[in-house]
Amino acid sequence: MSRIPQSFIDEVIARTDVVDVINSRVPLKKAGREFKACCPFHDEKTPSFTVVPAKQFYHCFGCGESGSAIGFLMAYERLTFVEAIEELAGALGMEVPKDASGPQPSQDLYGIMAQADEFYRAQLKHHEPAVAYLKKRGVSGEVARDYAIGYAPDGWDPVIKALPQVSDQKLQAAGLTKTRDDGSGHYDRFRDRIMFPIRDHRGRVVAFGGRAMADGGPKYLNSPETDIFHKGRELYGLYEARQSRADLSQLLVVEGYMDVVSLAQFGVRNAVATLGTATTADHLKRLFRIASDVVFCFDGDRAGRKAAWRALNVSLGEVRDGRQIRFLFLPDGEDPDTLIRSEGADGFNERLAAATPLSTFLMDHLADGVDMDSLDGLARFAEQARPLVARIPPGVYREMLSEAIAKRCGLSRAQFDAHVPAPRRERPAGARPVPPAAPRSPWIASAINLLLNFPKIAEKAQIPEELRSADLVGTDILIELLEQLAAAPHLTTAAVLERWREHAAAPHFRALLDKPVLINADQAVEELQGLLGRLQKEVRQRRYDHLLEKSRNQTLTETEKADLRELLSILKGGS
Ligand code: UTP
Ligand code: MN
Repeated sequence: MSRIPQSFIDEVIARTDVVDVINSRVPLKKAGREFKACCPFHDEKTPSFTVVPAKQFYHCFGCGESGSAIGFLMAYERLTFVEAIEELAGALGMEVPKDASGPQPSQDLYGIMAQADEFYRAQLKHHEPAVAYLKKRGVSGEVARDYAIGYAPDGWDPVIKALPQVSDQKLQAAGLTKTRDDGSGHYDRFRDRIMFPIRDHRGRVVAFGGRAMADGGPKYLNSPETDIFHKGRELYGLYEARQSRADLSQLLVVEGYMDVVSLAQFGVRNAVATLGTATTADHLKRLFRIASDVVFCFDGDRAGRKAAWRALNVSLGEVRDGRQIRFLFLPDGEDPDTLIRSEGADGFNERLAAATPLSTFLMDHLADGVDMDSLDGLARFAEQARPLVARIPPGVYREMLSEAIAKRCGLSRAQFDAHVPAPRRERPAGARPVPPAAPRSPWIASAINLLLNFPKIAEKAQIPEELRSADLVGTDILIELLEQLAAAPHLTTAAVLERWREHAAAPHFRALLDKPVLINADQAVEELQGLLGRLQKEVRQRRYDHLLEKSRNQTLTETEKADLRELLSILKGGS
C-alpha cells in the first residue's frame, strides 16, 4: 500500500475535531470542558465514555478504550488506518496524496477505470442480448445497478475508441487491453462479456470480471494485477455489502461473481467472493475487521472440500476468541446462486445456520480415511492435528480445540500438548522489540505523561547529555519523543499518538493518558525540566554506584577513573 505523507496525516488530524467525528456517530452530551456518552465499545447504563476536545482524544473509564479520531474510526467503523485517514480527509474535502511527489500514475488508473466502467454500463442499456441474459439469470435492474453491472461489446477496439484521450500504454497498464502477439498494436481484453466491476473499499473500480455470454473461450476473464489491483487483497462485493447497510456481523465467502449477485437478489447482502483465487490471509484480515463471523461456502464435491481445507489452513492464523469461522458445504453440483433460486432465502439461511464449525471440519477432515479404532490411526490423527493447532494463536479457542482433539484420540491434554510446537509470537509490523528487563525509573513515565498532555513543552526542554547513554527502561523513547515534539511543536496529543501507533510503547502511552493531569501548560514546562533533572541525577548516581562497585574487584580504566572523580564532585556538590 502506498504511504501517505506524514505531513498530510498531521494536517488531517489538526483540522479534524474529534468531537464532530464522534458526535455524528455516537451523540455526545457536554459535561464541563468534556463530552460524555454511553460507551459504544462496551455495554453500560451510565456514561463513562469521555471525549476531551483539548487533547483531541477519547477514552472510556469503563473499558479502557481510548485514542484519537483516527483510532475511533478504526475501532467503531472497523476501518484500516489508511481508510480512516481517507474518511477524515474526505470529510474535510482534502484529497489524499499517495506520495509526497506530485500526482501518481495510479491516480490516472482510477480515472481510466472509472471511464471504462461508465462505458460498459452505458453499453448494457444498448445491448438487448446482454439485458436478456441478465434477465434470464434472474438479475433485476435494481441489483444490476447496485453492482454496477455492464457489458463489454464485441469487437477489437470498443474500449480503445471509447477512451480516445487515454494512451495505449495507460490502457494496457489499467489491464483493459492486450498487446498482439506480434507486437503490432493492441486490442480490447474484454469482448462480448457481462462486466462485473470490482470496487475497492472507497468504491473505486480497480478491476473487472467479465463473463462470456456464449459458450467457447474461458467462461470468466479477470483483469490482470495492476498498480491498483491486487487480487489477493480485494473481495468482490465487499464495498456493495457495506453500502447496503445490512448487518455485517457475519460475512459469507462464496466462489463466484454470480453467487454474490444472486444472493443479493434474494436479500442476502453480506456475501463476497474471492476473484478466481484461493482465500488469502489478507482477505481474512479484511473480513474480520468488519465481521466477527465468517462463513465459507464451498461445493460439497472433492474440489470444493480441497478448497475448503486450503481456506481452513489460511484461517488458523486468524482464529481469535470471539471470532467464528464456519464452513457451509453445498450439495453436489449446486452453488449459492442455484441453491438460493431453488430453496429461497429461508432455505439458504437454514443451511447457513447449520454450517460446520472450523473445529469440526478440522477433525472430520483429519479423521477421514484414518482408522480411528486403531492405535496407529489415532497416532496419525494426533500427529497431523498438532502442527495445525500450533498455528492458532494462544487463547480460549486453542485450548478448547486441543481439549477436543485430545479427547477424540484418547490422549490426556498433557500428552497431546507435550508435542504441540510452541506458537510463533506475532509482533505487529513496525513494532520494535520490547527491551529486556533493565532498571526502571518512575520519572520516565511522568515525563512522557507531561509530553503527551502538553506536546508544546518539549520545545523549551533541555535534554541532559547523560540521558542518551542511560540504560533506564524507556529513556530512548523519552528522548525520541522530546526530539520529535521539539521539531514539531504544533502536534496535538492525538497527532502524537498517531505517530506512535505502530510502536510497542503505544499502549503505554494510552494508559498514561488515562491518568488525570492537575497542572496547566506553564507549570508543565517547569515540571518537565525538574523531572529531567531528577532523571539526570539518577543516571549519574547509577553510573557512580556501578563504577565504585567495579573498582572493588577490578582496576578501572583511565577514563573510568576520570568519570568517577567527576561524578563524585558533581554528586557531592549537590548539583
Ligand atoms: P464458476 O465456474 O463456479 O462459475 O467459477 P460461477 O460463478 O458459478 O458462474 P456462472 O454461474 O456459471 O456464471 C467461480 C469463479 O471462478 C472464477 C470466477 O471468479 C468465477 O466467478 N473463474 C471461473 C475464472 O476466473 N475463470 C473461469 O474461466 C471460470
Ligand atoms: Mn454459478
